[in-house]
Amino acid sequence: MSVTLCENTTSRSAGLSGGGESQTGNSGSKRKLMDLTSWVIIPFLFGSIGIYALFRLLQRLRSSAYIQDAVVVITGATSGLGKECAKVFYKAGAQLVLCGRNEEGLKDLINELCRIRKGSIQFHKPHMIIFDLSDVEAVASAAQEIICLVGNVDILINNAGISYRGTILNTKVSVDRMIMDTNYFGPVALTKGE
Ligand SMILES: NC(=O)c1ccc[n+]([C@@H]2O[C@H](COP(=O)([O-])OP(=O)(O)OC[C@H]3O[C@@H](n4cnc5c(N)ncnc54)[C@H](OP(=O)(O)O)[C@@H]3O)[C@@H](O)[C@H]2O)c1
Repeated sequence: MSVTLCENTTSRSAGLSGGGESQTGNSGSKRKLMDLTSWVIIPFLFGSIGIYALFRLLQRLRSSAYIQDAVVVITGATSGLGKECAKVFYKAGAQLVLCGRNEEGLKDLINELCRIRKGSIQFHKPHMIIFDLSDVEAVASAAQEIICLVGNVDILINNAGISYRGTILNTKVSVDRMIMDTNYFGPVALTKGE
């Protein structure tokens, strides 16, 4: 029944426009387009998605394999972002060196981490180093201590820092210095290990 209808439509339009071939040509090109979509574009799309998913999976496996046993130094590990980073890296099997000024805070964190039990991952007991980032000499000796403890550092997370709000006129230069030492010169010195 549909074939008949098609024929009628074709003959009618052929009568009106005198271009039966062009109608056939149109449906032919539509079919080609559909063929192109079903045989080329859709398989290509699914193939690309599959390859991308595989790539991401390999990337994840590689990064977790990299973090397992890697030496990760985190400054400002006693609270906030530093503490959360410590938990994430510990669970991934990294060897942690946790830094801060608050010794009790670091001890509590290490106890908390040591209570974590998960899967077959080999955990390393974290080290802690107490020093003040705004004290250049303390930073230098902390850098030496870290190297003596773990030999080399794979990842250094310069997280420790302070924020300050105040007007320029009401802020003493000593405060500006302390902020620059803590947030800039301390991390730079620690990164250089001097
Ligand atoms: N949270 C935010 O929304 C935000 C936004 C922008 C930037 N940041 C920056 O991100 C970092 C972490 O933020 P946060 O919210 O997690 O801060 P936080 O909870 O206040 O923690 C700051 C950490 O820095 C350490 N620290 C401060 N002064 C130090 C010093 N002189 N020497 C050694 N350690 C020092 C502190 O350890 P001790 O007390 O043990 O010394 C503490 O563990 C900071 O640098 C902050 O400025 C945070």
